[in-house]
Amino acid sequence: WPAGAERIDGAMHVGGVALTAIAEQHGTPFLLVDEAVVRERARRIRTAFEAAFTDAEADSGGQGVDVYYAGKALLTADVARWMRAEGLRIDVCTGGELATALRAGVEPAAIGFHGNNKSVVEIEAGVAAGIGTFIIDSPIEAERIAAAAERAGRVQRVRLRISVGVHASTHEFLATSHEDQKFGIPVAEAPALVARIRELPSLELVGLHTHIGSQIFDAAGFGESARRMLTLHAELGGTGSTADGAFPELNLGGGFGIAYTAADSPEPIETIATRLADAVRDAADELGIAVPRISIEPGRWIVGPAGVTVYRVGTIKPVQLEQGTRTYVSVDGGMGDNARPALYGAQYSARIASRASAAEPMLTRVAGRHCESGDIVVDAEWLPGDVAPGDLLAVAATGAYCHSLASNYNAAPRPPVLAVADGVVRTLVRRETIDDLLGRDAGLDRQNPGAA
Ligand code: LLP
Repeated sequence: WPAGAERIDGAMHVGGVALTAIAEQHGTPFLLVDEAVVRERARRIRTAFEAAFTDAEADSGGQGVDVYYAGKALLTADVARWMRAEGLRIDVCTGGELATALRAGVEPAAIGFHGNNKSVVEIEAGVAAGIGTFIIDSPIEAERIAAAAERAGRVQRVRLRISVGVHASTHEFLATSHEDQKFGIPVAEAPALVARIRELPSLELVGLHTHIGSQIFDAAGFGESARRMLTLHAELGGTGSTADGAFPELNLGGGFGIAYTAADSPEPIETIATRLADAVRDAADELGIAVPRISIEPGRWIVGPAGVTVYRVGTIKPVQLEQGTRTYVSVDGGMGDNARPALYGAQYSARIASRASAAEPMLTRVAGRHCESGDIVVDAEWLPGDVAPGDLLAVAATGAYCHSLASNYNAAPRPPVLAVADGVVRTLVRRETIDDLLGRDAGLDRQNPGAA
Protein backbone atom coordinates (compact mmCIF):
# COMPACT_ATOMS: atom_id res chain seq x y z
CA TRP A 1 0.00 0.00 0.00
CA PRO A 2 1.36 3.39 -0.86
CA ALA A 3 3.06 5.16 2.00
CA GLY A 4 0.37 7.50 3.25
CA ALA A 5 -2.52 5.06 2.71
CA GLU A 6 -4.60 4.81 5.86
CA ARG A 7 -8.08 3.94 7.05
CA ILE A 8 -10.15 6.70 8.58
CA ASP A 9 -13.54 5.60 9.93
CA GLY A 10 -13.08 2.39 7.98
CA ALA A 11 -12.64 4.04 4.58
CA MET A 12 -9.28 3.85 2.91
CA HIS A 13 -7.60 7.18 2.23
CA VAL A 14 -4.64 7.80 -0.04
CA GLY A 15 -2.76 11.08 0.17
CA GLY A 16 -5.38 12.26 2.65
CA VAL A 17 -8.38 11.71 0.34
CA ALA A 18 -11.04 9.01 0.77
CA LEU A 19 -11.15 6.59 -2.13
CA THR A 20 -14.94 6.59 -1.77
CA ALA A 21 -15.01 10.34 -2.47
CA ILE A 22 -12.82 9.91 -5.56
CA ALA A 23 -15.05 7.08 -6.79
CA GLU A 24 -18.10 9.30 -6.41
CA GLN A 25 -16.54 12.11 -8.38
CA HIS A 26 -14.67 10.16 -11.06
CA GLY A 27 -16.47 6.81 -11.21
CA THR A 28 -14.71 3.45 -11.23
CA PRO A 29 -12.35 1.94 -12.05
CA PHE A 30 -9.52 4.44 -11.69
CA LEU A 31 -5.78 4.38 -11.19
CA LEU A 32 -4.69 6.78 -8.48
CA VAL A 33 -1.07 7.73 -7.97
CA ASP A 34 0.18 9.55 -4.93
CA GLU A 35 2.38 12.31 -6.29
CA ALA A 36 4.31 12.71 -3.06
CA VAL A 37 5.18 9.02 -3.05
CA VAL A 38 6.30 9.06 -6.70
CA ARG A 39 8.48 12.09 -6.12
CA GLU A 40 9.87 10.82 -2.85
CA ARG A 41 10.85 7.54 -4.54
CA ALA A 42 12.42 9.36 -7.49
CA ARG A 43 14.46 11.41 -5.04
CA ARG A 44 15.29 8.41 -2.91
CA ILE A 45 16.66 6.26 -5.71
CA ARG A 46 18.67 9.15 -7.14
CA THR A 47 20.11 9.97 -3.72
CA ALA A 48 20.87 6.30 -3.01
CA PHE A 49 22.88 5.87 -6.19
CA GLU A 50 24.58 9.24 -5.91
CA ALA A 51 25.64 8.42 -2.37
CA ALA A 52 26.82 4.92 -3.28
CA PHE A 53 28.84 6.14 -6.22
CA THR A 54 30.22 9.11 -4.35
CA ASP A 55 31.81 6.63 -1.95
CA ALA A 56 33.18 4.76 -4.94
CA GLU A 57 34.47 8.03 -6.24
CA ALA A 58 36.73 8.51 -3.27
CA ASP A 59 38.64 5.39 -4.31
CA SER A 60 38.65 5.48 -8.05
CA GLY A 61 37.76 8.91 -9.30
CA GLY A 62 34.16 8.16 -10.36
CA GLN A 63 32.20 10.75 -12.24
CA GLY A 64 28.76 10.58 -10.68
CA VAL A 65 25.39 9.16 -11.66
CA ASP A 66 22.56 9.97 -14.05
CA VAL A 67 19.16 8.51 -13.27
CA TYR A 68 16.84 8.05 -16.24
CA TYR A 69 13.20 7.33 -15.47
CA ALA A 70 12.01 4.49 -17.73
CA GLY A 71 8.86 6.06 -19.14
CA LYS A 72 7.44 2.75 -20.30
CA ALA A 73 6.37 2.10 -16.70
CA LEU A 74 3.97 5.08 -16.69
CA LEU A 75 4.39 8.19 -18.79
CA THR A 76 2.09 11.18 -18.77
CA ALA A 77 3.01 14.84 -19.15
CA ASP A 78 2.81 15.42 -15.41
CA VAL A 79 4.80 12.32 -14.52
CA ALA A 80 7.55 13.46 -16.92
CA ARG A 81 7.59 16.89 -15.26
CA TRP A 82 7.75 15.40 -11.75
CA MET A 83 10.79 13.39 -12.80
CA ARG A 84 12.54 16.45 -14.18
CA ALA A 85 11.72 18.38 -11.03
CA GLU A 86 13.36 15.60 -9.01
CA GLY A 87 16.51 15.70 -11.12
CA LEU A 88 15.86 12.62 -13.25
CA ARG A 89 16.22 12.27 -17.00
CA ILE A 90 13.70 10.45 -19.18
CA ASP A 91 14.14 7.23 -21.10
CA VAL A 92 11.66 6.71 -23.94
CA CYS A 93 11.31 3.76 -26.30
CA THR A 94 8.90 4.90 -29.00
CA GLY A 95 7.99 8.01 -30.94
CA GLY A 96 4.86 8.23 -28.79
CA GLU A 97 6.80 8.33 -25.53
CA LEU A 98 9.25 10.77 -27.12
CA ALA A 99 6.38 13.09 -28.12
CA THR A 100 4.89 12.87 -24.62
CA ALA A 101 8.18 13.90 -23.02
CA LEU A 102 8.89 16.67 -25.52
CA ARG A 103 5.39 18.15 -25.36
CA ALA A 104 5.55 18.01 -21.56
CA GLY A 105 8.48 20.38 -21.89
CA VAL A 106 11.30 17.95 -21.09
CA GLU A 107 14.56 19.35 -22.44
CA PRO A 108 15.60 17.15 -25.37
CA ALA A 109 19.13 16.80 -23.97
CA ALA A 110 17.65 14.98 -20.95
CA ILE A 111 16.07 12.26 -23.08
CA GLY A 112 17.48 8.85 -24.00
CA PHE A 113 15.81 6.85 -26.78
CA HIS A 114 15.64 3.04 -26.60
CA GLY A 115 14.11 0.30 -28.70
CA ASN A 116 15.21 -2.57 -30.89
CA ASN A 117 13.38 -1.35 -33.99
CA LYS A 118 13.05 2.40 -33.99
CA SER A 119 11.61 3.53 -37.29
CA VAL A 120 13.44 6.00 -39.50
CA VAL A 121 10.65 8.49 -38.75
CA GLU A 122 11.20 8.03 -34.99
CA ILE A 123 14.96 8.36 -35.39
CA GLU A 124 14.54 11.53 -37.42
CA ALA A 125 12.18 12.97 -34.82
CA GLY A 126 14.73 12.33 -32.08
CA VAL A 127 17.63 13.75 -34.08
CA ALA A 128 15.62 16.82 -35.08
CA ALA A 129 14.60 17.44 -31.46
CA GLY A 130 18.24 17.18 -30.37
CA ILE A 131 17.75 14.41 -27.83
CA GLY A 132 20.64 13.52 -25.54
CA THR A 133 21.35 9.95 -26.61
CA PHE A 134 20.06 7.13 -28.75
CA ILE A 135 20.72 3.64 -27.49
CA ILE A 136 21.87 1.69 -30.54
CA ASP A 137 20.46 -1.83 -30.57
CA SER A 138 21.94 -3.30 -33.78
CA PRO A 139 24.47 -2.66 -36.56
CA ILE A 140 21.68 -1.70 -38.97
CA GLU A 141 20.42 0.87 -36.50
CA ALA A 142 23.88 2.43 -36.11
CA GLU A 143 23.86 3.14 -39.83
CA ARG A 144 20.30 4.50 -39.72
CA ILE A 145 21.01 6.88 -36.86
CA ALA A 146 24.26 7.99 -38.49
CA ALA A 147 22.48 8.67 -41.77
CA ALA A 148 19.69 10.62 -40.06
CA ALA A 149 22.21 12.69 -38.10
CA GLU A 150 24.19 13.37 -41.26
CA ARG A 151 21.05 14.49 -43.12
CA ALA A 152 20.28 16.83 -40.26
CA GLY A 153 23.86 18.10 -40.15
CA ARG A 154 24.29 17.00 -36.53
CA VAL A 155 26.58 14.86 -34.46
CA GLN A 156 24.35 12.52 -32.44
CA ARG A 157 25.47 11.08 -29.13
CA VAL A 158 24.80 7.37 -28.83
CA ARG A 159 25.17 4.44 -26.47
CA LEU A 160 25.50 0.83 -27.53
CA ARG A 161 23.26 -1.78 -25.91
CA ILE A 162 25.07 -4.97 -24.98
CA SER A 163 23.39 -8.26 -24.26
CA VAL A 164 25.69 -9.18 -21.43
CA GLY A 165 24.66 -12.79 -20.88
CA VAL A 166 23.50 -12.35 -17.29
CA HIS A 167 20.14 -13.86 -16.58
CA ALA A 168 17.91 -11.70 -14.51
CA SER A 169 16.00 -14.36 -12.66
CA THR A 170 16.42 -14.33 -8.92
CA HIS A 171 18.47 -17.48 -8.80
CA GLU A 172 20.14 -18.50 -12.05
CA PHE A 173 21.61 -15.14 -12.89
CA LEU A 174 24.96 -16.49 -13.99
CA ALA A 175 26.32 -16.82 -17.47
CA THR A 176 24.44 -18.41 -20.28
CA SER A 177 26.41 -18.66 -23.48
CA HIS A 178 23.17 -18.77 -25.43
CA GLU A 179 21.55 -15.36 -25.51
CA ASP A 180 18.30 -16.01 -27.28
CA GLN A 181 16.56 -12.65 -27.07
CA LYS A 182 16.11 -9.66 -29.30
CA PHE A 183 17.78 -6.79 -27.43
CA GLY A 184 21.30 -5.50 -27.89
CA ILE A 185 24.31 -7.18 -29.39
CA PRO A 186 26.42 -9.94 -27.81
CA VAL A 187 29.66 -9.04 -26.05
CA ALA A 188 31.68 -10.78 -28.77
CA GLU A 189 30.25 -8.53 -31.48
CA ALA A 190 30.78 -5.30 -29.56
CA PRO A 191 34.37 -4.52 -30.65
CA ALA A 192 33.52 -4.55 -34.36
CA LEU A 193 30.42 -2.39 -33.91
CA VAL A 194 32.24 0.06 -31.63
CA ALA A 195 34.95 0.36 -34.29
CA ARG A 196 32.30 1.02 -36.93
CA ILE A 197 30.55 3.64 -34.79
CA ARG A 198 33.87 5.40 -34.29
CA GLU A 199 34.29 5.55 -38.07
CA LEU A 200 30.98 7.36 -38.48
CA PRO A 201 31.59 11.09 -38.12
CA SER A 202 27.93 11.87 -37.34
CA LEU A 203 27.94 9.63 -34.24
CA GLU A 204 29.66 10.19 -30.91
CA LEU A 205 29.80 7.13 -28.67
CA VAL A 206 29.36 8.14 -25.04
CA GLY A 207 29.19 4.68 -23.54
CA LEU A 208 27.88 1.16 -23.37
CA HIS A 209 24.50 0.12 -22.02
CA THR A 210 22.94 -3.02 -20.64
CA HIS A 211 19.66 -3.94 -19.01
CA ILE A 212 19.37 -7.45 -17.59
CA GLY A 213 15.64 -7.59 -16.89
CA SER A 214 12.87 -6.36 -14.67
CA GLN A 215 11.45 -7.01 -11.19
CA ILE A 216 14.83 -8.30 -9.98
CA PHE A 217 15.37 -8.81 -6.26
CA ASP A 218 18.86 -10.27 -6.22
CA ALA A 219 21.66 -7.71 -6.23
CA ALA A 220 24.12 -10.39 -7.32
CA GLY A 221 22.73 -10.32 -10.86
CA PHE A 222 23.32 -6.57 -11.07
CA GLY A 223 26.83 -7.02 -9.68
CA GLU A 224 27.71 -9.70 -12.22
CA SER A 225 26.39 -7.60 -15.07
CA ALA A 226 28.35 -4.56 -13.82
CA ARG A 227 31.58 -6.60 -13.67
CA ARG A 228 31.16 -7.85 -17.22
CA MET A 229 30.26 -4.41 -18.54
CA LEU A 230 33.26 -2.80 -16.83
CA THR A 231 35.51 -5.39 -18.45
CA LEU A 232 34.09 -4.63 -21.87
CA HIS A 233 34.21 -0.92 -21.14
CA ALA A 234 37.93 -1.19 -20.33
CA GLU A 235 38.65 -3.43 -23.30
CA LEU A 236 37.02 -1.06 -25.76
CA GLY A 237 38.84 1.98 -24.50
CA GLY A 238 36.37 3.50 -22.07
CA THR A 239 38.93 4.75 -19.61
CA GLY A 240 36.67 7.02 -17.69
CA SER A 241 38.13 10.01 -19.47
CA THR A 242 36.79 11.62 -22.60
CA ALA A 243 40.21 11.67 -24.28
CA ASP A 244 40.72 10.33 -27.73
CA GLY A 245 37.54 8.52 -28.62
CA ALA A 246 37.30 6.91 -25.20
CA PHE A 247 33.75 6.82 -23.94
CA PRO A 248 33.20 8.11 -20.44
CA GLU A 249 29.87 6.53 -19.41
CA LEU A 250 28.30 3.21 -18.53
CA ASN A 251 24.54 2.66 -18.35
CA LEU A 252 23.51 -0.32 -16.22
CA GLY A 253 19.76 -0.24 -16.95
CA GLY A 254 16.82 -0.62 -14.58
CA GLY A 255 14.97 -3.60 -13.19
CA PHE A 256 14.87 -2.98 -9.43
CA GLY A 257 12.08 -5.09 -7.95
CA ILE A 258 9.18 -3.99 -5.71
CA ALA A 259 6.81 -5.77 -3.33
CA TYR A 260 3.43 -6.66 -4.83
CA THR A 261 2.24 -8.81 -1.95
CA ALA A 262 3.37 -9.45 1.61
CA ALA A 263 5.36 -12.42 0.27
CA ASP A 264 7.76 -10.11 -1.62
CA SER A 265 10.65 -8.61 0.30
CA PRO A 266 13.03 -6.72 -1.95
CA GLU A 267 16.18 -5.37 -0.38
CA PRO A 268 16.19 -1.63 0.30
CA ILE A 269 17.31 0.32 -2.76
CA GLU A 270 20.20 1.76 -0.72
CA THR A 271 21.56 -1.77 -0.25
CA ILE A 272 21.23 -2.54 -3.96
CA ALA A 273 22.93 0.75 -4.84
CA THR A 274 25.82 0.04 -2.48
CA ARG A 275 26.28 -3.50 -3.80
CA LEU A 276 26.23 -2.25 -7.37
CA ALA A 277 28.70 0.52 -6.60
CA ASP A 278 30.99 -1.95 -4.80
CA ALA A 279 30.90 -4.27 -7.80
CA VAL A 280 31.68 -1.40 -10.17
CA ARG A 281 34.50 -0.10 -7.97
CA ASP A 282 36.05 -3.54 -7.48
CA ALA A 283 35.94 -4.26 -11.19
CA ALA A 284 37.40 -0.86 -12.04
CA ASP A 285 40.21 -1.39 -9.51
CA GLU A 286 41.01 -4.82 -10.93
CA LEU A 287 41.05 -3.46 -14.46
CA GLY A 288 43.05 -0.42 -13.47
CA ILE A 289 40.52 2.05 -14.89
CA ALA A 290 38.60 4.89 -13.33
CA VAL A 291 34.94 4.39 -12.40
CA PRO A 292 32.97 5.70 -15.38
CA ARG A 293 29.98 7.98 -15.09
CA ILE A 294 27.13 5.57 -14.33
CA SER A 295 23.52 5.76 -15.49
CA ILE A 296 20.58 3.70 -14.32
CA GLU A 297 17.04 3.48 -15.72
CA PRO A 298 14.49 2.53 -13.07
CA GLY A 299 10.79 2.55 -13.96
CA ARG A 300 8.78 0.18 -11.81
CA TRP A 301 10.64 0.96 -8.59
CA ILE A 302 9.67 4.63 -8.78
CA VAL A 303 6.00 4.49 -9.76
CA GLY A 304 4.83 0.95 -8.98
CA PRO A 305 4.23 1.26 -5.23
CA ALA A 306 2.75 4.76 -5.62
CA GLY A 307 -0.32 3.54 -7.52
CA VAL A 308 -3.55 1.93 -6.44
CA THR A 309 -6.38 0.79 -8.71
CA VAL A 310 -9.91 1.08 -7.36
CA TYR A 311 -12.71 -1.07 -8.73
CA ARG A 312 -16.33 -1.58 -7.78
CA VAL A 313 -17.51 -5.07 -6.97
CA GLY A 314 -20.32 -6.15 -9.30
CA THR A 315 -21.16 -9.81 -8.85
CA ILE A 316 -20.18 -12.46 -6.35
CA LYS A 317 -20.46 -16.11 -7.24
CA PRO A 318 -19.45 -19.15 -5.24
CA VAL A 319 -18.25 -22.01 -7.43
CA GLN A 320 -18.37 -25.48 -5.90
CA LEU A 321 -15.17 -27.44 -6.45
CA GLU A 322 -14.12 -30.85 -5.20
CA GLN A 323 -11.72 -29.22 -2.79
CA GLY A 324 -14.30 -26.73 -1.54
CA THR A 325 -15.93 -23.48 -2.58
CA ARG A 326 -14.15 -20.81 -4.54
CA THR A 327 -15.84 -17.42 -4.44
CA TYR A 328 -15.41 -15.31 -7.55
CA VAL A 329 -15.63 -11.61 -6.82
CA SER A 330 -16.00 -9.75 -10.11
CA VAL A 331 -15.05 -6.11 -10.53
CA ASP A 332 -15.69 -3.50 -13.21
CA GLY A 333 -12.19 -3.63 -14.73
CA GLY A 334 -9.61 -6.36 -15.22
CA MET A 335 -7.14 -7.33 -17.91
CA GLY A 336 -7.97 -4.19 -19.90
CA ASP A 337 -6.44 -2.01 -17.18
CA ASN A 338 -4.09 -4.59 -15.66
CA ALA A 339 -2.83 -7.21 -18.07
CA ARG A 340 0.00 -8.33 -15.79
CA PRO A 341 -1.75 -11.27 -14.08
CA ALA A 342 -2.81 -12.63 -17.49
CA LEU A 343 0.58 -11.91 -19.10
CA TYR A 344 2.98 -12.88 -16.35
CA GLY A 345 0.91 -14.60 -13.68
CA ALA A 346 1.61 -11.49 -11.61
CA GLN A 347 0.35 -11.47 -8.03
CA TYR A 348 -1.38 -8.52 -6.39
CA SER A 349 -3.10 -7.83 -3.15
CA ALA A 350 -6.61 -6.39 -2.74
CA ARG A 351 -8.61 -4.86 0.12
CA ILE A 352 -12.12 -3.54 0.56
CA ALA A 353 -11.55 0.21 0.41
CA SER A 354 -14.99 1.57 1.19
CA ARG A 355 -15.48 0.21 4.70
CA ALA A 356 -13.90 -1.79 7.45
CA SER A 357 -15.23 -5.25 8.09
CA ALA A 358 -14.85 -7.60 11.01
CA ALA A 359 -16.29 -10.52 9.05
CA GLU A 360 -14.39 -13.82 8.95
CA PRO A 361 -11.95 -13.80 5.96
CA MET A 362 -12.95 -15.86 2.93
CA LEU A 363 -10.66 -17.09 0.16
CA THR A 364 -11.71 -15.38 -3.06
CA ARG A 365 -10.56 -14.98 -6.62
CA VAL A 366 -10.95 -11.43 -7.84
CA ALA A 367 -11.95 -11.54 -11.51
CA GLY A 368 -12.36 -8.85 -14.14
CA ARG A 369 -15.24 -8.21 -16.49
CA HIS A 370 -13.61 -9.25 -19.75
CA CYS A 371 -14.65 -12.24 -21.83
CA GLU A 372 -11.73 -14.46 -21.02
CA SER A 373 -11.28 -16.89 -18.16
CA GLY A 374 -7.69 -15.72 -17.67
CA ASP A 375 -9.02 -12.26 -16.81
CA ILE A 376 -7.99 -12.42 -13.18
CA VAL A 377 -7.12 -9.41 -11.02
CA VAL A 378 -5.98 -11.34 -7.93
CA ASP A 379 -5.77 -15.09 -8.16
CA ALA A 380 -6.18 -15.84 -4.47
CA GLU A 381 -7.08 -13.22 -1.90
CA TRP A 382 -8.56 -13.38 1.57
CA LEU A 383 -11.36 -10.84 1.69
CA PRO A 384 -13.89 -10.29 4.46
CA GLY A 385 -16.68 -12.86 4.13
CA ASP A 386 -19.29 -10.11 3.86
CA VAL A 387 -17.76 -8.60 0.69
CA ALA A 388 -20.73 -7.40 -1.30
CA PRO A 389 -21.75 -5.85 -4.61
CA GLY A 390 -21.10 -2.12 -4.43
CA ASP A 391 -18.01 -2.42 -2.26
CA LEU A 392 -14.92 -0.65 -3.55
CA LEU A 393 -11.92 -2.90 -3.96
CA ALA A 394 -8.44 -1.38 -3.99
CA VAL A 395 -5.54 -3.23 -5.59
CA ALA A 396 -2.09 -2.09 -4.49
CA ALA A 397 1.13 -1.41 -6.38
CA THR A 398 -0.47 -0.84 -9.79
CA GLY A 399 1.48 2.33 -10.64
CA ALA A 400 3.85 0.64 -13.10
CA TYR A 401 3.00 -1.21 -16.31
CA CYS A 402 -0.77 -1.17 -15.78
CA HIS A 403 -1.84 2.02 -17.51
CA SER A 404 0.98 1.64 -20.03
CA LEU A 405 -0.08 -1.92 -20.89
CA ALA A 406 -3.80 -1.14 -20.91
CA SER A 407 -5.92 -2.23 -23.86
CA ASN A 408 -9.42 -1.80 -25.20
CA TYR A 409 -10.16 -5.53 -25.23
CA ASN A 410 -13.92 -6.02 -25.50
CA ALA A 411 -14.27 -2.33 -26.43
CA ALA A 412 -13.76 -1.39 -22.81
CA PRO A 413 -12.74 2.25 -22.40
CA ARG A 414 -9.53 2.65 -20.40
CA PRO A 415 -9.80 4.10 -16.88
CA PRO A 416 -8.38 7.49 -15.99
CA VAL A 417 -5.07 8.10 -14.27
CA LEU A 418 -5.59 10.42 -11.31
CA ALA A 419 -3.06 11.94 -8.98
CA VAL A 420 -3.49 13.04 -5.41
CA ALA A 421 -1.27 15.72 -3.90
CA ASP A 422 -1.81 17.85 -0.83
CA GLY A 423 -5.33 16.49 -0.44
CA VAL A 424 -6.32 17.50 -3.98
CA VAL A 425 -7.12 15.06 -6.80
CA ARG A 426 -6.08 15.94 -10.31
CA THR A 427 -6.59 14.12 -13.61
CA LEU A 428 -3.38 13.07 -15.37
CA VAL A 429 -5.13 11.12 -18.14
CA ARG A 430 -8.90 11.34 -18.49
CA ARG A 431 -11.21 8.35 -18.70
CA GLU A 432 -11.66 7.07 -22.22
CA THR A 433 -15.19 7.29 -23.58
CA ILE A 434 -17.17 5.04 -25.89
CA ASP A 435 -16.98 7.91 -28.39
CA ASP A 436 -13.17 7.87 -28.17
CA LEU A 437 -13.32 4.23 -29.17
CA LEU A 438 -15.99 4.51 -31.83
CA GLY A 439 -14.31 7.57 -33.29
CA ARG A 440 -11.70 5.28 -34.83
CA ASP A 441 -14.21 2.96 -36.47
CA ALA A 442 -14.17 4.29 -40.03
CA GLY A 443 -17.20 2.21 -40.97
CA LEU A 444 -19.43 4.33 -38.76
CA ASP A 445 -18.80 7.30 -41.07
CA ARG A 446 -20.04 5.42 -44.10
CA GLN A 447 -23.66 5.17 -45.13
CA ASN A 448 -25.21 1.82 -44.50
CA PRO A 449 -25.46 0.54 -48.09
CA GLY A 450 -28.46 -1.60 -47.22
CA ALA A 451 -30.39 1.39 -45.88
CA ALA A 452 -30.79 3.20 -49.23
N1 LLP B 1 15.66 0.10 -19.33
C1 LLP B 1 15.35 -0.72 -20.33
C2 LLP B 1 16.21 -0.78 -21.50
C3 LLP B 1 14.20 -1.52 -20.25
O1 LLP B 1 13.91 -2.34 -21.24
C4 LLP B 1 13.38 -1.44 -19.11
C5 LLP B 1 12.17 -2.26 -18.99
C6 LLP B 1 13.73 -0.55 -18.09
C7 LLP B 1 14.88 0.20 -18.23
C8 LLP B 1 12.91 -0.37 -16.84
O2 LLP B 1 12.79 -1.51 -16.09
P1 LLP B 1 12.13 -1.45 -14.63
O3 LLP B 1 13.04 -0.62 -13.75
O4 LLP B 1 10.79 -0.81 -14.77
O5 LLP B 1 12.04 -2.85 -14.20
N2 LLP B 1 5.79 -5.08 -18.78
C9 LLP B 1 6.63 -5.76 -17.83
C10 LLP B 1 7.94 -5.07 -17.64
C11 LLP B 1 8.69 -4.88 -18.93
C12 LLP B 1 9.97 -4.15 -18.72
C13 LLP B 1 10.57 -3.77 -20.01
N3 LLP B 1 11.77 -3.04 -19.92
C14 LLP B 1 5.89 -5.88 -16.50
O6 LLP B 1 4.76 -5.40 -16.43
O7 LLP B 1 6.38 -6.47 -15.56
